[in-house]
Formats: sequence, structure tokens, C-alpha cells
Amino acid sequence: MMDLIDLVQTLTSPHPLDRYLELVRPTLTVRDMRAEITNVHRSTPGSVTLTLRPTRQWKGHVAGQFVQIGVVIDGVRHTRCYSPVNPSGRDRRIQLTVKAHPDGLVSQYLYHHAAPGMVVDLTPADGVFRLPEPRPERVLLISGGSGITPVLSMLRTLAAEDHAGEVVFLHYAKSPAVLPHRAELDAIAQRHPNFRIELRYPHRAPDTARVDPDAPWVDLNQPKSNGYFDYDELERVAPWFADAQTYVCGPQSLMDAVRTIYQAEQLEDRLHTEEFTLSLAPVDAADAQGTVNFSASGVSAQNNGASLLEQAESAGLSPEYGCRMGICFSCTAVRRSGCTRNLRTGETDSDPDQPIQLCISAPVGDVAVDI
Ligand SMILES: Cc1cc2nc3c(=O)[nH]c(=O)nc-3n(C[C@H](O)[C@H](O)[C@H](O)COP(=O)(O)OP(=O)(O)OC[C@H]3O[C@@H](n4cnc5c(N)ncnc54)[C@H](O)[C@@H]3O)c2cc1C
Ligand code: FES
Repeated sequence: MMDLIDLVQTLTSPHPLDRYLELVRPTLTVRDMRAEITNVHRSTPGSVTLTLRPTRQWKGHVAGQFVQIGVVIDGVRHTRCYSPVNPSGRDRRIQLTVKAHPDGLVSQYLYHHAAPGMVVDLTPADGVFRLPEPRPERVLLISGGSGITPVLSMLRTLAAEDHAGEVVFLHYAKSPAVLPHRAELDAIAQRHPNFRIELRYPHRAPDTARVDPDAPWVDLNQPKSNGYFDYDELERVAPWFADAQTYVCGPQSLMDAVRTIYQAEQLEDRLHTEEFTLSLAPVDAADAQGTVNFSASGVSAQNNGASLLEQAESAGLSPEYGCRMGICFSCTAVRRSGCTRNLRTGETDSDPDQPIQLCISAPVGDVAVDI
């Protein structure tokens, strides 16, 4: 079969076969994976839940993983990562919940324009943040804001499997109104006595931070806290946390608070994290010298030590990017000369004509990059 496809690809050269098939129907593809949006649900202000029907190449996801979605906006294709919220399994559909960032390009586009029938590009599910096999007996899921998505997929998976062990889902939201999938959380809590759903709204006044009158699972007799994650909160919701596997995804402050406690308790190996943004080490003044030359555009700028993606954007260029944290490779470009530092590992490299990821590479002195 693949030989035949290769032959047809050769005959349709220079365009791949999928370029012709998409003229017939966008989801009729041989190689490219795509998905058709079949349902759009705006249940909470500021976020949208999309149901997608992928093309036949889709192999499913493991709870916690992410996919990349590609959309064309004003003639330019943009790719972003989103973590399915539906449970793992052989379901031929994907559900994504996208938070509309105030200045975000793709999230605003999807929030305002996604409609049934729209076709988007799709990549296979990826990522090491995943619910393991066999399932841990005790599972602690912690999330904040839009970070709910991968851990909700884990919660739904465990619920669908009637997991017999203890499960705590601790989620931080700005208010009950902006919490997506609320009805399902209610239903899971009611169906599974061994699952506890703990919702926190820490920006509220301290005496109401833990009290959500509509939530049947909130114990109003619990001691009050300031509503933020801390050691006491951890002990209260999951006193067995040292024996559990913990999965956390949320804003930097929440991630830092959880990491600090697990490090102090020497439980790092039981903590599994996913981040939607990368917090980079501060710029090294010794690296921030010389000139960055964006050779394909004929633009040069003083090297300020930031990532090449940020420096290119500051210089008025618009290189393609997806995750801005080194996982999707959308921003890959060729470093013609000079030395760059990998901002995740700290390693430097100066081999000429090498592909680098602009979002996690910072120039060390003079650098020429082919964008
Ligand atoms: C593994 C993973 C899973 C994810 N899962 C989800 C999910 O399930 N749901 C969800 O809502 N989101 C998720 N995200 C986040 C998502 O991929 C997007 O980052 C988010 O939707 C914002 O994209 P955007 O195009 O709207 O914003 P963008 O336009 O890309 O802007 C987002 C931010 O990028 C920075 N930025 C953009 N342009 C510039 C510039 N010119 N100069 C400097 N900084 C700039 C800014 O900080 C800005 O606030 C996930 C991310 C990752 C990495
Ligand atoms: S934008 Fe994803 S690797 Fe750089």
C-alpha cells in the first residue's frame, strides 16, 4: 500500500497527493493527519470546548498527553499545543478546552471563530506527562486555571475505569463561573465515593475561599486557609501523598509551590509535571554581547541575551512558533554561524549550519541565523 502511495506521490510531484485530495475534501488525506471540528461549546466565559473528529491516522492519546493543532489565520498557518480533556481510549474523537488568552492569536481565533465543519491540522499525541500503566493505587491530581486539561483527562480515565484506589483532584480556579466541565466533576464525585474533588478559588476573601455553596463535595467544616496551595492544604486533602503519584499542571506559582514541598520531602520521583509556558533562566550578561544577524531577512539587532525567537520578534520579524518551550520544533531554523546556548540545558553549541530551536536558543556573542 505504501509503495503505491509513494508512486502516486511521485506522479503528483512537486505537490504531495494530500494537496490534491484536500481540494475534494479537507479530511480526505493519505499522509497528513487532520481533524474536523464537530461541536463547539462555550460553557464558561473565556474558554471554548471543541470536539474534533480526526482522520483515520489518529491512534488515540494517553491521558495527560498533548496534540498540536494547526490553523490558518490570515493566510498564515499557526500551530499550538493542546491537551485533550477526554479520557484515554480508543474513542475516535478528541475534546479540547481552549482558554482565550487576552492577546493570544490562536486561542482567540478558536474562541471566536471555531465552528462545526472547520478542519484543522493535527499531530499525533505526544508527551511524557501521562497516566502510567499499571495505574498507581493512590493518585493526587493538582491543577490551576487552563492547566486543568491534562489532569482532567487523567481523572476521567480513572473514573471510566472505576479505579478502586484513592483519587484526589485539587483544582484552583479564579471563580466557579470560569471553571469548565463543572457538571462532569459533580457527576464523578457522586458516582465514585473514593474520588474527592476539591475546588479552590484563592482570590476570594479568606473566609469564603474554601466555600462553594453549589458544590456538594465541599466540607464546610474544614479549617479555613488562605485558599492557596501549601503544606497544610496538601496534608488536608491527601494525607497519604507520600505514597501516591502526583500529577500537576498549572501556573508557575502553583508549580513552584508544589515542587518546593516535594523537594523538601525528597519526593521528586513521585511528582510529575506539565507546563504550558517555560520559565527560562535569567539572561547571562556574559552571553548578551555582539550582534544577531537574521540573514534571510537582512535584519540585524544588538544581542540582548533573550531567546532568538524573542529577539527576532523584537526586531519586527514573525518566525513560526508553536509551544515556545522546545517541544514542538515549529520554530526550527538554521544557525549559520556563531554560538548559541540551549536555555533548557545550559549547553552551548557552535557548529555552523545546524538546525536550532529559536524559542530555547539564546545567542552567545555574534550569531547569524537563517530567518
Ligand atoms: C504541552 C502544552 C499543552 C497545552 N494545553 C493547553 C490546553 O489544553 N488548553 C489551553 O488553553 N492551552 C494549552 N496550552 C497553551 C497553548 O498551546 C497556547 O500557548 C495558548 O492557547 C496561547 O496561544 P495563543 O496563540 O492564543 O497565544 P500567543 O499569541 O502565542 O501568545 C501567548 C503568549 O506568548 C507570548 N508571546 C506571543 N507573541 C509574542 C511576542 N511577539 N513577543 C513576546 N512574547 C510573545 C506572550 O507571553 C503571550 O502571552 C498548552 C501548551 C503546551 C506547551
Ligand atoms: S516553538 Fe515549539 S519548539 Fe520552539
